Amino acid sequence: MQFETLKARAPGPVLGIDFGTSNSAAALLGADGQLNVMPLDGLKAAMPTALFFSNETHTTLFGSQAMQAYLMGVEGRLLRSIKSLLGSKLMDEHTLVNGQSTPFFDIVTLFFKELKARCEAHVGHPIERAMLGRPVHFVDDDATRDALAQDTLGRAAQAAGFSHIDFQLEPIAAAFDFEQRVSKETIALVVDIGGGTSDFTVIRLGPERRQTRDRSSDILATTGVHLGGTDFDRLLNLSHVMPLLGHKHIGPAGRPVPNSVFFDLCTWHLIHHAYSRKNMHFARELWTSYADQALHKRLMQVLEEQHGHRILAGVEVAKIACSLSHKPAAVELEFLDQALVPFITAPSMGEALAQALDQVVQCALQCVQASGLTAVDVVYLTGGSSALQPLMDALQVAMPDATLMPGDRFGGVAAGLAYAGAVSSY
Ligand SMILES: Nc1ncnc2c1ncn2[C@@H]1O[C@H](COP(=O)(O)OP(=O)(O)OP(=O)(O)O)[C@@H](O)[C@H]1O
Ligand SMILES: [Mg+2]
Repeated sequence: MQFETLKARAPGPVLGIDFGTSNSAAALLGADGQLNVMPLDGLKAAMPTALFFSNETHTTLFGSQAMQAYLMGVEGRLLRSIKSLLGSKLMDEHTLVNGQSTPFFDIVTLFFKELKARCEAHVGHPIERAMLGRPVHFVDDDATRDALAQDTLGRAAQAAGFSHIDFQLEPIAAAFDFEQRVSKETIALVVDIGGGTSDFTVIRLGPERRQTRDRSSDILATTGVHLGGTDFDRLLNLSHVMPLLGHKHIGPAGRPVPNSVFFDLCTWHLIHHAYSRKNMHFARELWTSYADQALHKRLMQVLEEQHGHRILAGVEVAKIACSLSHKPAAVELEFLDQALVPFITAPSMGEALAQALDQVVQCALQCVQASGLTAVDVVYLTGGSSALQPLMDALQVAMPDATLMPGDRFGGVAAGLAYAGAVSSY
């Protein structure tokens, strides 16, 4: 069934939903016009986009409870980065959770149902209408799959019980949030670097423009690239941890160890794949490609004890710690070997991410170029990964005359979607 955006007017507030690769958030405008940010995860607004299916209790946990259960070693299945599946062939596949073969679509729906229920519990009434954020590109360079991704997202929200659904681009939503704080007309490049995508928009903002329904003439350009924090984690894992398991290790025949197992282990939704019977067999046979058998033994320990997600989570923690403190941060690998302490440092991170960050900066520059302007007044930064210092440095070098303005890293898109929703319902 083809999902169609349902634009018919219906009473009630519009819930702005930022369904993120790493974190989700939601907000709506109250009858008094005040922004009401939903406490989706305990008291916190940002809820990890994660589900955990416990084999022990046969229950499903969401958000940080899902992450905690998984990291505490509860037997079960963790699903993260489910947004990355939208538009991909994996979306049509089934996965085994709680002993049942479940379509990925149902898992996305389950997440939306939970999000909706938590919001309704907070406001105390049903919420029928949703303004969903979407990245500029779910899928790069493939308009058909990109349209399919939006369609799937809409159908999942519909299956979760929303009857009226609309979409807005995530960077435009971030811009609407920023607009609440501008006091004069401003040309902004809004930069939203999240977990899965980096999205840009050049937009004309101003206090007197806020209530305008049709903002298309103010949106001067949008660009986006399918690169974000989960890619940075993958690259840091490949450069800092996987060599300890044999990645780039040269074997007795003078050739490096085949690398597919390392790529699987570094990608959230492929880690499970590395543990399949076929891949385990392949990995066992890899011993002949190793000059140092201790590295192969370690690889097999990671696979047999299924430490892939734990390692990747440890890399992300170290990335964030290093990014915030600018000091070296250790990747926790004690469960493998006490003596194994790889450090992520500012220079080693800059080096591992250089190419990816350059792609992100090029995409930002393309956005300015596509707007027809030669410069912007402000570069407004949002999304968790916008805190990365090497990225901020590179953006400032690329746009020396613009003022870099760090914004609300995690709540801005949901807030902007709520503003967009309120204007659309006038
Ligand atoms: N201080 C930090 N420095 C660097 N990266 C960070 C920091 N804090 C969070 N991140 C990263 O930000 C990402 C999550 O950001 P965010 O919540 O904005 O993404 P998202 O909205 O879920 O993803 P997307 O918008 O791409 O779908 C994660 O990859 C996380 O590791
Ligand atoms: Mg986001």
